[in-house]
Amino acid sequence: MSSKQSSLNRIQIIRPDDWHLHVRDGASMKAVVPYTAKQCGRAIIMPNLTPPVTSTEQAKAYQQAILSASAQHPHFKPLMTLYLTDSMPPSEIEAALNSGIISAVKLYPAGATTNSDAGVTDIKKCYATLEMMQKLGLPLLVHGEVTHQDVDIFDREKQFIDQRMSGLINDFPELKVVFEHITTADAADFVNTSSNYVAATITAHHLLMNRNDMLVGGIKPHHYCLPVLKRETHRQALVKAAISGNQKFFMGTDSAPHSQQNKESACGCAGMFTAFAAIELYAEAFDAANALDKLEQFSSLNGPLFYGLEANSDKITLQREKWTVPDSFSLGNDDVVIPLRAGQTIHWKRVTEN
Ligand code: DOR
Ligand code: ZN
Repeated sequence: MSSKQSSLNRIQIIRPDDWHLHVRDGASMKAVVPYTAKQCGRAIIMPNLTPPVTSTEQAKAYQQAILSASAQHPHFKPLMTLYLTDSMPPSEIEAALNSGIISAVKLYPAGATTNSDAGVTDIKKCYATLEMMQKLGLPLLVHGEVTHQDVDIFDREKQFIDQRMSGLINDFPELKVVFEHITTADAADFVNTSSNYVAATITAHHLLMNRNDMLVGGIKPHHYCLPVLKRETHRQALVKAAISGNQKFFMGTDSAPHSQQNKESACGCAGMFTAFAAIELYAEAFDAANALDKLEQFSSLNGPLFYGLEANSDKITLQREKWTVPDSFSLGNDDVVIPLRAGQTIHWKRVTEN
């Protein structure tokens, strides 16, 4: 990589999109949506609310609420998803597509993560629905971890590939699948060697941190997420995939705000809040790999290409500038969320006029 590139102090890129985002609902949603709306053109909104978003009608109401919360940023478009259950009928997929507001369907293995209890217990139960998605071209977004008690938490993604993902892709070779928030070299390899129907999102936190950042020198509940941070070799494999220029890999923050109280608990929730500085954190990761020239492709081009959409038409500017992250952000109702890097420094800053 050229030394010229590592000395870049200012970059302009097409406005990014976040292809995997949790904004919750109610007061929390109103509090967090503007952070994404400010910097992204679009965001794929995860449906794991209580109750989950399982119908197009619910998704419409949720989209309207998000649009009102982001009214100050009229360029922003929330792209809605449905939560797949064992009993979702194929007709729901047709209704979703006809509505024009549903961009994808999310598969949570039951029990895998936050609000996944209503998720899929046996993928075979969904085959008729997946068949319809394949036929109509609606992407399936997959939380790729098995949930069996006897599988070590660090092996759950790899086991999912072997036990579930490979079979799924064989059975539905033309189903568009996004392997969400990949965390292992195994998942990066799997996506690399699969057909062009298979893509992956990678979070900023999995590019920037490994499991030592969660466990060494005291347990850090704000660095706990699912899939859990892995060892350094996996982080390096993810960086390699993200900067490779391969169009199958794109930005998806998995920003997942939980209240401080729910994180700093004897049984803390999984998720990191990164939306307030999403593109800045990715810029840091790409800069550290001397690959700022590959950022735009990952953050702003590959995602729309996979989803069959145009890239955003405007640009944002980032500059190399240190700033201190606030200790907390309001979540409404007297709750706060502790952001990633709370009280610490981020080395890139978005220039604010855009
Ligand atoms: O860390 C996570 N938080 N991973 C997920 O899969 C879900 C998310 C959440 O909704 O809190
Ligand atoms: Zn998520």
